[in-house]
Amino acid sequence: MRKKIIALDGPAGAGKSSVSKMVAKRLNCTYLDTGAMYRAITYEALKRNISEEKEIVQMVENLNMDICAKEDTMHVFIEGEDITQYLRTSEVSSNVSRISAFQGVRNAMVKLQRKVAEKGNAVLDGRDIGTVVLPDADLKIFLTASVHTRALRRYKELKDTDTTLERIEEEIKRRDNLDMTRKISPLRKADDAILLDNSDLTLEETADKIISYWKKVSE
Ligand code: CDP
Ligand code: CDP
Repeated sequence: MRKKIIALDGPAGAGKSSVSKMVAKRLNCTYLDTGAMYRAITYEALKRNISEEKEIVQMVENLNMDICAKEDTMHVFIEGEDITQYLRTSEVSSNVSRISAFQGVRNAMVKLQRKVAEKGNAVLDGRDIGTVVLPDADLKIFLTASVHTRALRRYKELKDTDTTLERIEEEIKRRDNLDMTRKISPLRKADDAILLDNSDLTLEETADKIISYWKKVSE
């Protein structure tokens, strides 16, 4: 039986993690949220109050990071502590693009990501999966949606905060811009990736489309 590797890249709020989870479940695959790994490094650097590239890379090279899928969520452990609940705070979100642009950080994360993919039957979502991490993936999707749609989706998730839709939209634009313009592994569509704009699609419809692409490539 063929080993499935699906790479799903795209900007913030495109639906990558929700859709990847659905696709992985339906195809009986492992799901790896690579953004959570960069968020975990960012969380740890903030906790230790370090911001210089050299110090952060040194921290990463000596860090004991474990990833494990529990029920529907991917959990990240650092030095044995489950830090998953801290990964999506606005402080982590606003610092993650700066820290994930460091080559030493990326080298360590890519190594871990390839280890997961080596076993096969995996869906990985991120920014550089189809271009850098797994250029030989069987199926590559570049999932996107309009900035307004993506901001609205995030806004709906944050019902109880005092932030505004405009502020979320600005923050998404800022992060997309940092991710697309960085020198190392920028966010871009791989030449052989399928572009899928799901601004007008539900999660289920998006997952259905990806499964149908998968059926075509695995024929
Ligand atoms: O969920 P959302 O799309 O907002 O972000 P995420 O997937 O959790 O990724 C957070 C950040 O990590 C991104 O904005 C990138 O700066 C970085 N990232 C990356 O550089 N490479 C990846 N493969 C995944 C995430
Ligand atoms: O991982 P990424 O940042 O690309 O997006 P996500 O966290 O999976 O999705 C952001 C939010 O948009 C979630 O609340 C999804 O349920 C929602 N979403 C949606 O309602 N319809 C879609 N077609 C895609 C995402």
